[in-house]
Amino acid sequence: MPIPFLSIKNLSKRFGSLSANEAISLELYPAEVLALLGENGAGKTTLTKMLYGIYQPDEGELILAGSPVRFRSPADAIRHGIGFVSQHFSLVPSFTVAENVVLGREGSALLNKKVLNDKVRQTAEHFGLALDPTSLIRDLSVGEQQRVEILKSLYRNCQLLILDEPTAVLTPQDVDKLFETLRNLQNQGLSVIIITHKLEEAIAISQRVAVLRLGKLVGVEQTQNTNAKALAKLMVGRDSVPVTRNEQHHQEKTTVLAAKGLTVKDKRGLTTLDNVTLELHAGEVLGIAGVAGNGQTELVDILTGMLKPEKGQVLLAGKTLDLGNTRAFEVAGVGRIPEDRLKGVIADLSVAENLTLEHIPQFSKTGHLNAKAIRQEAENLITTFQIKAKPNDKTRTLSGGNIQKIILARTLSKNPSAVIAAQPTRGLDIGATNFVHEQLLAQKERGAGVLLLSEDLDEVLRLSDRILVIYGGKIVGEFMAAEAELETLGLLMAGSKDVAA
Ligand SMILES: Nc1ncnc2c1ncn2[C@@H]1O[C@H](COP(=O)(O)OP(=O)(O)OP(=O)(O)O)[C@@H](O)[C@H]1O
Ligand SMILES: [Mg+2]
Repeated sequence: MPIPFLSIKNLSKRFGSLSANEAISLELYPAEVLALLGENGAGKTTLTKMLYGIYQPDEGELILAGSPVRFRSPADAIRHGIGFVSQHFSLVPSFTVAENVVLGREGSALLNKKVLNDKVRQTAEHFGLALDPTSLIRDLSVGEQQRVEILKSLYRNCQLLILDEPTAVLTPQDVDKLFETLRNLQNQGLSVIIITHKLEEAIAISQRVAVLRLGKLVGVEQTQNTNAKALAKLMVGRDSVPVTRNEQHHQEKTTVLAAKGLTVKDKRGLTTLDNVTLELHAGEVLGIAGVAGNGQTELVDILTGMLKPEKGQVLLAGKTLDLGNTRAFEVAGVGRIPEDRLKGVIADLSVAENLTLEHIPQFSKTGHLNAKAIRQEAENLITTFQIKAKPNDKTRTLSGGNIQKIILARTLSKNPSAVIAAQPTRGLDIGATNFVHEQLLAQKERGAGVLLLSEDLDEVLRLSDRILVIYGGKIVGEFMAAEAELETLGLLMAGSKDVAA
């Protein structure tokens, strides 16, 4: 048995009366990828933040190469060889890759540009990270920016690299590249912890899997001795059943939302959305399949009033909407579930305030907010949507899944006639994902039209009645979901033109 790089012994962390981590013990070995799994709120991020010196444990200790250590800050953890890549990057957009990599590192100000670029290039090449040290961060894709974050840790000689849901923001191609990098790191003797909600990913990349449930470590398995079903059961404590769609097709075809000739150009004058026309019917889920960066963001932004297109029209129940006016879209009955859930809430406000944010007129009499009514409504929504929080909790302290539930509760409780759902289950665990799916299908049963944008093809196929494929800012294919083939969709999404749609 090799000697662990880091031993976690009986680590506990409480927030008030909540036990976020309870007596966790785990060894991390060199040259190993460990996947850390668990439902939303299970305590994964909390554990890794203690390993990186962001949180101080209430009990327990860390043993590094045989000696007890305490990390009082991230700088302290970095000095001891720990690297951490969070979902929210901390890069300076106007700086180059190399400048970002050395930022905050002592002595780096003394290096001249050429030496700096060479040193960073060498490190990148050594670990097989495809990056040009002289590129500006703002010109890089999300996948490349993540690579810069990884490079930053490697440049500081990290021996244990922790990645918190790195794949949630990546396209399938970028996930492959990331996994190649992680295998490289492993071959060079590093220890890696990766948090993910996708069980297939955990199985593909790890040698061991650790599962947290409600703050406790409920299992550590050799990956080759387990499978997705067993892991899911370990995570939730019972078998989980995915929702099934009502296969009956909606009879009448009333159009709730129509988009005509939507065209958008970006700052450089390139067309990002090219004459897109679509109709969303009452009582259907219309899925939009596409790889990120093919115009989906622009489409969603227009259909929710966030962006004014160069050309085109949006109609709700036949009436033209005031483009680029979010309030007008909201009032008319368009519900929005945004791609970045942190943009859908105000993190510093309470759960109750966020739940009632868009309903304010309803709760203000003579200009004064009716605190009692707000609390009452918040309590109702918390119960209906099974949100693990109290009305007065700061939204910032909730787990990702529970923040997503707040957005769903707020949007869907207004019975919108059209729901625009962008990546509605990104970063959610299996239980929360099933819940969101149920809620979206309930909207369809109620007679709303649901537009679903997702990079997860399985999700699109599972929920949609009809599917449009978007590529290069254009709709390049339309299918009834029952007839759509995975392979054809995949080819169209990748821009293949030789597919008979
Ligand atoms: N700073 C904080 N203050 C109060 N409570 C917190 C804080 N950070 C986390 N919590 C709570 O601790 C629990 C564990 O949260 P954590 O973020 O570790 O979960 P997670 O497993 O990473 O979930 P997710 O998959 O949604 O990211 C949750 O109930 C969360 O609300
Ligand atoms: Mg987390």
